[in-house]
Amino acid sequence: MSQETLSNLLHEQRRFPPSEEFAAQAVAKPSLYEEAAADREAFWGRQAHELLTWSKDFDQVLDWTDAPFAKWFVGGRLNACYNCVDRHVEAGLGDRVAYYWQGDPEGDKRTITYADLQRMVCQAANALESLGIHQDDTVAIYLPMIPETVVAMLACARIGAPHTLVFAGFSAEALASRIADADARVVITADGQFRRGTRAPLKPQVDEAVAKSPGVEKVVVVRRTGDEIAWDESRDVWWHDLVDQQSDQHEAHDFDSEQPLYILYTSGTTGKPKGIFHTTGGYLTQCAYTHRNVFDVHPERDVYWCAADVGWVTGHSYIVYGPLTNAATSILYEGVPHPGAQDRWWKLIDERKVSILYTAPTTIRTYMKWGTDMLQGHDLSSLRLLGSVGEPINPEAWIWYRDTIGGGWCPVVDTWWQTETGAIMVSPLPGVTATKPGSAMRALPGITVDVVDDTGQPVPNGSGGYLVVTSPWPAMLRGVWGDPERYRETYWSRFPGLYFAGDGAKKDEDGDLWLLGRVDDVMNVSGHRLSTTEIESALVSHPKVAEAAVVGANDPTTGQMVCAFVILRQEAIQEADEPGEGSELVAELRDHVAKEIGPIAKPREILVVSELPKTRSGKIMRRLLRDVAEDRAIGDVTTLADSTVMDQIRQRMATTH
Ligand code: WT7
Repeated sequence: MSQETLSNLLHEQRRFPPSEEFAAQAVAKPSLYEEAAADREAFWGRQAHELLTWSKDFDQVLDWTDAPFAKWFVGGRLNACYNCVDRHVEAGLGDRVAYYWQGDPEGDKRTITYADLQRMVCQAANALESLGIHQDDTVAIYLPMIPETVVAMLACARIGAPHTLVFAGFSAEALASRIADADARVVITADGQFRRGTRAPLKPQVDEAVAKSPGVEKVVVVRRTGDEIAWDESRDVWWHDLVDQQSDQHEAHDFDSEQPLYILYTSGTTGKPKGIFHTTGGYLTQCAYTHRNVFDVHPERDVYWCAADVGWVTGHSYIVYGPLTNAATSILYEGVPHPGAQDRWWKLIDERKVSILYTAPTTIRTYMKWGTDMLQGHDLSSLRLLGSVGEPINPEAWIWYRDTIGGGWCPVVDTWWQTETGAIMVSPLPGVTATKPGSAMRALPGITVDVVDDTGQPVPNGSGGYLVVTSPWPAMLRGVWGDPERYRETYWSRFPGLYFAGDGAKKDEDGDLWLLGRVDDVMNVSGHRLSTTEIESALVSHPKVAEAAVVGANDPTTGQMVCAFVILRQEAIQEADEPGEGSELVAELRDHVAKEIGPIAKPREILVVSELPKTRSGKIMRRLLRDVAEDRAIGDVTTLADSTVMDQIRQRMATTH
């Protein structure tokens, strides 16, 4: 990667060292780095002992003799659900709140203690067993953000049945392909769901998917909306009929440390979905370790909120398995931010005195766009730590998050990881790290990563390349479900012996990491490598821009050209609608990018739009924007959260050309 490309983010000079007060009470201590470096396996062995309860101790921390197939905590036995629930009740924490559930309709609230959770999980485990589900049978879960979703996951874990969650916004098609690949025998769903203040169907998608899935024996249906639904007497059973009558006693048997815990299909890729699968001991250890240290969780006093959907890996690791292993109190929120409910989050934070918030840059930028009126009358002073995940966070969004939401004093942790890594890999440690806005900083203690060039050689500080993980880690994927060759090929063949993450990254002069987006999002303009993230950050740093997406479109002379799609901030929109003002604004933005990065990075095209195409997990689908920029038919839009967005952008393009 050329030097010019990397210099932009290096302009960022702001530093945020931890305050003394924060450091004094912090979970993470600087000595963690030394301890892990001195003996990495001993370090993980200690974490596994301290954070988990094993029914049989492990004999060996790591077996890597069959690389890239890892075994962690070899010979150890445990039950994931027991670690998440029962042992806390046994320790006298039964009355502690596990979840404050807030439904999408404002009046829908439930408070679930650890003792409640234990009863619910035991009943659900008995129910699954009554359907003939046992160790190694897979169960598909297609549910919105309701307590039963977490209960269903834990009940599966309790009996050793791997679960596979399918995000409730996915189509029947997507559900069917996942059911087939995972060979699920039971599907757990609901009659319907609430999203953005309205009802949306769920059961019809299941009926359609199950019609194509001969292996599915039973469909368990939670009553959520009360909507009229089609019913198959021989196959469908109500959750309340099946589960409520079960005994609330259930003995949790132990399983091998490598017992598969779940399969989760990665989104956004074309072709057959990849079933990433995770196992038990290593996964739980790293989830609990990162949850405690990265979010500075003090379970006895914090109220923690990971605002993701449980259907994604973020929800698995940081709504369910990490927080519960640590006996934390969490928010479980069914709603998503939408223009009709701009202040719901802030109300909820105030009401529950949330102290830790974990969300994605796209959400942060959406709130930036909406402006600060939404915060009026809501006291956010309970917040003491903010986290970000999912894509590179622009320095301006980072600063806005810290200042506007975090009162100017909450540490911000930008956490890099993937479905495949299972848990956080690169992140500052609050109370320890002096952060830089836009940088995920360093590998956590116990994790080793590097940035390498095309030949797999580590690059020097100040240069960029590909992010790799250089040694196995406890929560690593154990493979692609049913396809070991694909696992080897996708992740371990590009650079022998190194895990290829698919992300571009840069090491700055201090050796800190700046993620540059997926390597397929890196553009090459006249032989200069430009990062989409870098140019997006430059655009978002302009006071009139709320959000930007940049793509490289083919160009016969320069290889690629830079095309930008921008959403303006509220105040700038009216101005831009005045005749003639639009083109002036575009010129202003191009100059701004030239100033921030250099003339080479100036977008050839800038289109002002009102929405960007995003997946349901909030990722901008740049490939669709590339289709617009290259003026060809728009590709598959089925994974878009809102499929009308592309029509709007197309129209906008037509009227400006
Ligand atoms: C990809 C993984 C991990 C949970 C959510 C996404 C990008 C994730 C960051 C970050 C820059 C990030 C990477 C990664 N990503 N976190 N802090 N900074 N990029 O999980 O759907 O498996 O996506 O998300 O490109 O490869 P996922």
